[in-house]
Amino acid sequence: MSPEISNSVQKKIKELISRYPKKQAAILPVIHLVQRELGHISEDSEQWVADLLEISPVRVREVVTFYSMLSQKPLGKYHIQVCTNLSCSILGAEKLIEHLSHKLGIKPGETSEDGKFTLTTVECLGACEQAPNIMVNYDYYGHVDKEKVDQILSELDE
Ligand code: FES
Repeated sequence: MSPEISNSVQKKIKELISRYPKKQAAILPVIHLVQRELGHISEDSEQWVADLLEISPVRVREVVTFYSMLSQKPLGKYHIQVCTNLSCSILGAEKLIEHLSHKLGIKPGETSEDGKFTLTTVECLGACEQAPNIMVNYDYYGHVDKEKVDQILSELDE
């Protein structure tokens, strides 16, 4: 079964591929566009991308499972990732997870019933000097504490 990718996104993907000397080199931006369109990368999507780029579906799976911003499962509207690597752990990541879990009513790996929030943990977000860090969709937040979490959540509610 083919994923439901709109004609406009399919057109964008074809234009994107045409910019690369080899279509296989476009794998990451193509997957990114598919996820933006569908909210996650299903097995059907992996096969669709593989067919399009003339590569093995396993190659697509490797990319999808390597990058923490890509997901095989549907995500909430806001994907909150809390870094639990060393610097962030030392500076309070566990307390942030507890606070977020309490506020959102979900544990890491879960999505709220209204589909608004997904909470996950992630390995180093690459901004250790600003630990503890969280990421909401594609936005980074550093030096996060409980008050900053509350502020971020209230801004997302608006
Ligand atoms: S340890 Fe959290 S950003 Fe590096």
